Formats: sequence, C-alpha cells, structure tokens
Amino acid sequence: MPIDVALDGGIATVTVNRPDALNALDLEHAESLRARLEELAADDEARVVLLTGAGDRAFVAGADIKYMQALGVLEARRWGELGQACASLLETMPKPTVAAVNGFALGGGCELALACDIRLASANAKLGQPEVKLGIVPGWGGTQRLARVTTLGFAKELCFTGRTVGAEEALARGLVNAVHEPDDLLPKARELCETLAAKSPLALAYAKEAANLALAGDHRGNLETEARLFSMLFSSEDQKEGMAAFVEKREPRFTGR
Ligand code: COA
Repeated sequence: MPIDVALDGGIATVTVNRPDALNALDLEHAESLRARLEELAADDEARVVLLTGAGDRAFVAGADIKYMQALGVLEARRWGELGQACASLLETMPKPTVAAVNGFALGGGCELALACDIRLASANAKLGQPEVKLGIVPGWGGTQRLARVTTLGFAKELCFTGRTVGAEEALARGLVNAVHEPDDLLPKARELCETLAAKSPLALAYAKEAANLALAGDHRGNLETEARLFSMLFSSEDQKEGMAAFVEKREPRFTGR
C-alpha cells in the first residue's frame, strides 16, 4: 500500500511507504495520503493520528521532484492544492495529530510535519524547506506554518537559503517538541499518543479548535496566495533548470527568467 494505516488502541499510525525514494510523495502517494486522512478524520475509533515514514532514513523527503519536473502552471496548482489538502486535514481534523520525524523531513515532508499538532524527531532527523534550490517556493503551507511554529526570521532564513537543520537545532528553534534516539522515537511517540488517546476526545477536539484560533491573521487567504505563487513558478525557466539539475545530479544555473 502506498500509505499504510494501522489502528490499535485508538492510535492510527499512518506510514508513508516509499522508502526507495526516501518516502517522497508522488501523485499516487499524495492522493492516497489525502484519502487515508479524510477517512481517519471521520473515524471515531481513531482518537489520535501518528504520521511517520517507512524505513530508517526518512520521514518524507518532499514532493517527488521527478513528478513535478514536467508540471505546467495548472497542474502545479492542483498539485499544490493536493498537498495543502493533506496538510489542512492534519491541522484541522478534530483529533490530535503527531509527527514522528524519523529522518529527512524536507520540503513537503517538513510541511506535513508542520501541519501536525506535535512533532517528535529522531536525533538523526534533518528538516528544511529546500524548494528555493529548485527554483520554486514551499507550496504545501510551509511559507505560513514555519513562521507560525517558529519565528518569521528563522522561517525566512530556511526558506531563502534552503538550509536544512538537524534535530537539536530544530528543537532549540521550537520546530520540534522533543528529540529522541532513533530506536526510541516510535515508542516515545506511541507513549505520547497513548496519553492523548486516554483524554476526552471532545475536550481535545475543542482544545484544538480553540488553539488553532491562535493563528492570527487570514491563514486561509495566505495559503491561497502561496498556492498562486507556487504554481506560477512552474512557468519559469528557473523551475525547469532547478529540477533538471536535481535529476541530472548537478548544480543549477539560475537566470531569473
Ligand atoms: N523527489 C524525488 N526523488 C527523491 C526525492 C524527492 N524529493 N528525494 C529523494 N529522492 C530519491 C533520489 O532521487 C534517489 O533516487 P534514485 O536512487 O532513483 O536516484 C533516492 O530517493 C535516494 O536519494 P539520494 O539522493 O540518492 O540519497 P542521499 O542520501 O544522497 O540524499 C537527500 C538524500 C534527501 C539529501 C536528497 O535525496 C535530496 O536532496 N532530496 C531532495 C530533497 C528536496 O529537495 N525535497 C523538496 C522537494 S520540493
């Protein structure tokens, strides 16, 4: 299955299952993730959702660059909306969502983690928004949620430079809630989820609804702006060059066109 779901003791563990590509999300995996999250949002048996990646190297290494390489503006718009839908489900479903970041969480992977209510990272995790290196911008909510979860200055630094950060720096910046040794990550995440699953689902749903109001400003409108800017960049030569350079394993040459 592209996305595995295991429901046990009220905890739905959702695993992105594409370890050969470091769990990068292509269309099949992204559509499947959205479908699974929609089901879990409506499933009362699932009291807590735990998101992680298969294998020991990656949470999600981003949207699939090979898939995105040939997208036009309209397709990029739909692709952005699909990723934003996954992130919005994690952010708004009426139950806690926890990310167990077990390795690379880059681009769309970092954005999915940012949309979860709580993030735990393994000591070898690497997080960041490297889209600028591909000639594009984060398109699954990262331009908004990274600043909301950390600070505007740190978010701009990561989005502008594409620099990835290790787990300890992520912890110091508030990007993750806690760091655990790789072998301890899932047991610790499960422990947290058990704590949450024992609480009143109604109280948790209301706490989440109220806490999300702390996101001041026009969050929806800002996400709409992000979707427009993300898709427009797919009409640029820099996007073609940035993604071709990744696939061809060379440095990109950007011209600003
Ligand atoms: N999209 C498509 N394929 C990806 C991918 C992505 N986002 N991330 C990793 N992969 C693939 C690689 O192409 C490679 O496939 P191949 O074996 O067919 O060549 C495989 O996963 C393993 O990755 P590789 O690059 O060989 O591993 P590494 O340890 O040398 O580097 C990363 C790991 C994460 C640093 C590197 O894969 C990378 O930079 N990935 C892109 C991250 C990114 O920009 N994400 C945001 C996209 S918007």
